[in-house]
Amino acid sequence: MAISHPPLIHFICIFILAFEGSLFDSVRSSSSSSSSSSSSISNLESDKQSLISLKSGFNNLNLYDPLSTWDQNSSPCNWTGVSCNEDGERVVELDLSGLGLAGFLHMQIGNLSFLTSLQLQNNQLTGPIPIQIGNLFRLKVLNMSFNYIRGDLPFNISGMTQLEILDLTSNRITSQIPQEFSQLTKLKVLNLGQNHLYGTIPPSFGNLTSLVTLNLGTNSVSGFIPSELSRLQNLKNLMISINNFSGTVPSTIYNMSSLVTLILAANRLHGTLPKDFGDNLPNLLFFNFCFNRFSGTIPESMHNMTQIRIIRFAHNLFEGTIPPGLENLPHLQMYYIGHNKIVSSGPNGLSFISSLTNSSRLTFIAVDENKLEGVIPESIGNLSKVFSRLYMGGNRIYGNIPSSIGNLRSLTLLNLNKNLLTGEIPPQIGQLEQLQLLGLAKNRLFGRIPSSLGNLRKLNHVDLSENNLTGNIPISFGNFTNLLAMDLSNNKLTGGIPKEALNYPSLSMVLNLSSNMLSGNLPQEIGLLEKVEKIDISENLISGNIPSSIVGCKSLEVLTMAKNEFSGEIPSTLGEIMGLRALDLSSNKLSGPIPNNLQNRAAIQLLNLSFNNLEGVVSEGGRAYLEGNPNLCLPSLCQNNKSHNKRRIKIISLTVVFSTLALCFALGTWLHLAKRKSKLSPSSSTDELIKRHHEMVSYEEIRTGTANFSEENLLGKGSFGTVYKGYLNLNEIDGGVYAIKVLNIERSGYIKSFLRECEALRNVRHRNLVKLVTSCSSIDYEGRDFRGLVCEFLSNGSLEEWIHGKRKHLDGSGLDLVERLNIGIDVGCVLEYLHHGCQVPIAHCDLKPSNILLAEDMSAKVGDFGLAKLLMGNEADQCSSITSSYVLKGSIGYIPPDYKSGL
Ligand SMILES: *[C@@H]1O[C@H](CO)[C@@H](O)[C@H](O)[C@H]1NC(C)=O
Ligand SMILES: *[C@@H]1O[C@H](CO)[C@@H](O)[C@H](O)[C@H]1NC(C)=O
Ligand SMILES: *[C@@H]1O[C@H](CO)[C@@H](O)[C@H](O)[C@H]1NC(C)=O
Ligand SMILES: *[C@@H]1O[C@H](CO)[C@@H](O)[C@H](O)[C@H]1NC(C)=O
Ligand SMILES: *[C@@H]1O[C@H](CO)[C@@H](O)[C@H](O)[C@H]1NC(C)=O
Ligand SMILES: *[C@@H]1O[C@H](CO)[C@@H](O)[C@H](O)[C@H]1NC(C)=O
Ligand SMILES: *[C@@H]1O[C@H](CO)[C@@H](O)[C@H](O)[C@H]1NC(C)=O
Ligand SMILES: *[C@@H]1O[C@H](CO)[C@@H](O)[C@H](O)[C@H]1NC(C)=O
Repeated sequence: MAISHPPLIHFICIFILAFEGSLFDSVRSSSSSSSSSSSSISNLESDKQSLISLKSGFNNLNLYDPLSTWDQNSSPCNWTGVSCNEDGERVVELDLSGLGLAGFLHMQIGNLSFLTSLQLQNNQLTGPIPIQIGNLFRLKVLNMSFNYIRGDLPFNISGMTQLEILDLTSNRITSQIPQEFSQLTKLKVLNLGQNHLYGTIPPSFGNLTSLVTLNLGTNSVSGFIPSELSRLQNLKNLMISINNFSGTVPSTIYNMSSLVTLILAANRLHGTLPKDFGDNLPNLLFFNFCFNRFSGTIPESMHNMTQIRIIRFAHNLFEGTIPPGLENLPHLQMYYIGHNKIVSSGPNGLSFISSLTNSSRLTFIAVDENKLEGVIPESIGNLSKVFSRLYMGGNRIYGNIPSSIGNLRSLTLLNLNKNLLTGEIPPQIGQLEQLQLLGLAKNRLFGRIPSSLGNLRKLNHVDLSENNLTGNIPISFGNFTNLLAMDLSNNKLTGGIPKEALNYPSLSMVLNLSSNMLSGNLPQEIGLLEKVEKIDISENLISGNIPSSIVGCKSLEVLTMAKNEFSGEIPSTLGEIMGLRALDLSSNKLSGPIPNNLQNRAAIQLLNLSFNNLEGVVSEGGRAYLEGNPNLCLPSLCQNNKSHNKRRIKIISLTVVFSTLALCFALGTWLHLAKRKSKLSPSSSTDELIKRHHEMVSYEEIRTGTANFSEENLLGKGSFGTVYKGYLNLNEIDGGVYAIKVLNIERSGYIKSFLRECEALRNVRHRNLVKLVTSCSSIDYEGRDFRGLVCEFLSNGSLEEWIHGKRKHLDGSGLDLVERLNIGIDVGCVLEYLHHGCQVPIAHCDLKPSNILLAEDMSAKVGDFGLAKLLMGNEADQCSSITSSYVLKGSIGYIPPDYKSGL
């Protein structure tokens, strides 16, 4: 049946198409480098021939040629992107930005000697930059940002004495910063960010007296910050974040009154801020010293910088108190000082919040993980109308949550986790209609959960765990239509689980109601949670049968119902949940046989049915914890003689436990999890699993986890973003390796791509789809939007790498036939699911071998939904006609990769 599955055939077509495509590419690029010789009839004719050569260097013009106007028979002055001087005799400007050009920049560029502006940004050019570019001595503007240019910087660039703007942001240039740059005395903007530059900043940069902007962010530049930079009297923007700078900041830098932007985040800098810091930098608007080792106190003068917009020095070693004067900063937008050692004491220890009520543009306060003590002032409700994120977790904040917090109508994130807050949750929180994350966990809150929280229709994450909350789960919780994760565990909640509070079609991460005193039956509606990965309702008083509707939880991987009062038989439908990896039903009153489909499921890594009343025959070789079920027996030992059963069941459970242990050892990740607690107890490891994937992850965490987005962690790069491998601690208990896709914010359409991918991944769950763990929507060190998606990491790379022989089995062999078939079937299944199994059909629109990823066991998963389309309503039309017609007919939605640029 599997072999005749239609998707397989299509898949093989994809295979061949992709392979052919890359073959053509290489043929094309090798033939295209022959340069045309030209007879110089006139200057314009010579420029024309140079342009024609240039075009021959670009090699993806087969499907859609943005340079189709460039033909021999017309004047180059009329060509796309070309501008001539007034008499139409010379080409003076070339703007080919954003045309999707691949290939390389032809050395004939050096013959366009009248060029004053060359703009090639936002293409896919690979390098290197030809040294002939140094002949363009009239050039003022050179922008080649956002390409894939490799290799060295052409040192001859020093001949370009008129250059004012040099922007090579986001390429793959591996080079030291050439000393020769310091001869470009007219240079105003030098942007070399997001490359692989190393070495140090040459002190002679102090000669670049026209320089206004120096951006070296996200490279590997090291050494000290040269004090000579302080000679640059026009310098407004100094941005060197995410490098390896060490030492202290030269004191003269703190005297550069021209500075508007000072961004030194994520280096290895130390030292203290001078007392008069704020008085000598009157123009500073953007200040970011995050992730360094700065120490000492916050200078009081910082609050004299009355124009400042952004103050960020989180993740340093600052101590002392928050100085007074924050009320002097009316333009402040972000105050981000988390993860330091800043103290405050007494009930007024948080009075800085009152001072910030003067800042009418404030959107962001993060003071989390410090040593702040005090009571949240009522005045918090007077923060700006646009205030949207409040991080105060991990301090020593006590007292009640003031009801005035309900005035912050723009709030999207409220994190007060890990404090000493008492009292009841103010019902006014229900007025925060924009709220997406509510974290009040690990406090001492008591009383009932206000039903007004049901107004928070945009809530994604709610964590009220580890408090002393009592009463029922409000029925109004059924209004959380956007919920992804809910944790109410470790409280004293009573009553039944309301069926309304299970109607979460979007809930895809975790539902944790464990360790409460919930009673009654588990409603049938549990089966509505069709996307949820983990359910934990252990340690409650829930009774009755396990509803067979549980099979509706199609995406379930971990189900923990231990230590309740469940009775009746285990529904056989449980065995139909294909992705189930861990099932813990221990310490209940379940009876009857173990369903066969559960016993024999290889996918289940942990099955704990101990301490119930199960009976019947256990299949030999099955693996499960079965202790404390006196009526179970192995077939070879099974007789009707009940008097011997006790001894037998001991033998059975011992052998079963030992074989389970052995298997656990084989399963690396599980071992890793289990080892963290001293005993290998099944319920503790499921607990830990459930606790994972809980919090939205911050930019800082992603940056640290990928070692500054380092090359070693780079998994791949596409037009919409870059994928890194990274280690993330998604909460304090557990960390792991994830694939992190960083969306390329500079390219148009990225937001759409991000939203699409989120939406697609949120809406679909399938074992052959790469799983979205969480997402990051934040602001990077330079104040720009940052969007990241955290997905599961698949260790065996992409299918493309296997096809091209970049990956091989240990014995050097490639994919064998069975593996190819299996991959075909996996991909076929997932396409079948995408088109028919989801609520909303989805066309992937970008299926190609590089988006098919292989797990450790060589099973295939489909990833990269950046171009996916949810085929609902009119949106179906947005997919190009080829795909949508295919998809709507229920066949494979496949667009050859080349169409991508046209989308
Ligand atoms: C450019 O095209 C316009 C018409 O589109 C034509 O009138 C003009 O002569 C052309 N210029 C040159 C230099 O060919
Ligand atoms: C263009 O430049 C090359 C060297 O880069 C030179 O050999 C050639 O003669 C030049 N062609 C014209 C037409 O100027
Ligand atoms: C270079 O191009 C990029 C991308 O379009 C743009 O964001 C940037 O501002 C340009 N650089 C300069 C210095 O104008
Ligand atoms: C550029 O370098 C080449 C050799 O690498 C040299 O022949 C040429 O004179 C240099 N041009 C300039 C403008 O420095
Ligand atoms: C440039 O700077 C260096 C070192 O800072 C200095 O020795 C040299 O004289 C300067 N050159 C010019 C032309 O100013
Ligand atoms: C802040 O500025 C005022 C006037 O400009 C000055 O008198 C005061 O000393 C400054 N405060 C600090 C802490 O530098
Ligand atoms: C919950 O309340 C009990 C007393 O009712 C108290 O002993 C316990 O410490 C409280 N737990 C928390 C986390 O505040
Ligand atoms: C929840 O939604 C229902 C309608 O779906 C509405 O009647 C009710 O007032 C809402 N509850 C709250 C607390 O918002």
